[in-house]
Amino acid sequence: MKHIVLLSIIVIVYSEKYINILGDNPPNFTELAANYGHQALEYDVITEDGYILRLFRIKGEREMPVLLMHGILDSADTWVLRGNESLAITLANKDYDVWLGNCRGNKYGRRHIYLDPDNNTFWDYTFHEHGYYDLPATIDNILFITNASKLNAIGHSQGTTIFYVLGSTRHEYNNKINVLIALAPVCFLENMEPPLKTMIQYSPMIYLTANMLDIKEIFGTNQNVINTICQQPIINSICVTNTIFPITGEDSDELEDIPILYEHFPTATSVKNLYHFSQVSYKRQFANFDYGVKLNLDKYGSPTPSVYQLDKITMKISLFVGINDNISTLDNVAMLKQSLPNVINYMIIPHTKMNHIDFVWGLPISTA
Ligand SMILES: *[C@@H]1O[C@H](CO)[C@@H](O)[C@H](O)[C@H]1NC(C)=O
Ligand SMILES: *[C@@H]1O[C@H](CO)[C@@H](O)[C@H](O)[C@H]1NC(C)=O
Ligand SMILES: *[C@@H]1O[C@H](CO)[C@@H](O)[C@H](O)[C@H]1NC(C)=O
Ligand SMILES: *[C@@H]1O[C@H](CO)[C@@H](O)[C@H](O)[C@H]1NC(C)=O
Ligand SMILES: *[C@@H]1O[C@H](CO)[C@@H](O)[C@H](O)[C@H]1NC(C)=O
Repeated sequence: MKHIVLLSIIVIVYSEKYINILGDNPPNFTELAANYGHQALEYDVITEDGYILRLFRIKGEREMPVLLMHGILDSADTWVLRGNESLAITLANKDYDVWLGNCRGNKYGRRHIYLDPDNNTFWDYTFHEHGYYDLPATIDNILFITNASKLNAIGHSQGTTIFYVLGSTRHEYNNKINVLIALAPVCFLENMEPPLKTMIQYSPMIYLTANMLDIKEIFGTNQNVINTICQQPIINSICVTNTIFPITGEDSDELEDIPILYEHFPTATSVKNLYHFSQVSYKRQFANFDYGVKLNLDKYGSPTPSVYQLDKITMKISLFVGINDNISTLDNVAMLKQSLPNVINYMIIPHTKMNHIDFVWGLPISTA
């Protein structure tokens, strides 16, 4: 069984590289927002290391901007997929100045001042670079354009991880964030359940194999295999039940599913990024990417990668966690809460089926 899982992963990832399934382009963020009565603005953000990221904004009258950062394999689209009930539209309707960032690699982050996404060097990044380069560039642009001195931030999953990287490695940014609202926070990943646990156990081998096959990116083409197959009406719920729930925690109420989900999810990230998260889990340490002793010495000048100093993160953080979340488990988030110096709020959502993705794609709790 385990071997079949492993084999399927390799086959899917490998075929991705060669099959560019043709499909109509789904509506982009701006077009989605327009469907719900809001005109979005688009900006380009250039990171210190040359990536060009699309930043969206639904302009509102309130003074302090609010920045929404998506999770792994995801994009700004995620915040509008529930239409009028989604977080971005809800905030916009309340007249917040809503900004939606994108990390390098995803469908809105595939440009660079000289690197081509077909060049493997483009994919040499993990959540470390999202936190160290993508976030500062995004934040600085927002503060520059709005002339605000601080912003509020809301992150989901990896969209919270990158703030811990930022706050611990670039201390001055703590002062630019009024509060981070962390939804399904991801930092420590020690307490995992199968099948994710199994995938993590196999990850060194999968990473090695992917490298041998020269696979650096996953879910890259605009309409990739998963997008195309899982968009089909009946298959849609089979995909949710068999690929998403086993990883995120089961919530069958959600099977009143989002028909357009697979037009937008998943979108690309680097294989190295997935492996970095896996390292955090099996090495039981929230640290920079581990290349092995010899390469670590070359890259970092030390045999081991540096551990992120969470006690340096002085920004205010509000943690929100789901009881049924199999990634940001209560135990994992409890470890994070203990390590952060400035947690102002910790809330377990009062809904027994609250899983990892309900924070962005779930139905309003009153009806679920
Ligand atoms: C989204 O679509 C609009 C209208 O079709 C277009 O003007 C805009 O450039 C697109 N944005 C992106 C990021 O593709
Ligand atoms: C969403 O809200 C807008 C503005 O309030 C309204 O015009 C539109 O009909 C709503 N759409 C849906 C699908 O409910
Ligand atoms: C990838 O980009 C680097 C840096 O610009 C360049 O040196 C290298 O030749 C490129 N590789 C390919 C295969 O184009
Ligand atoms: C920007 O904000 C500063 C104070 O933070 C203020 O002195 C300045 O006038 C503002 N500039 C504009 C163009 O609003
Ligand atoms: C998720 O975690 C819970 C609690 O540890 C466990 O009972 C369940 O089997 C796990 N897997 C799924 C798919 O929910």
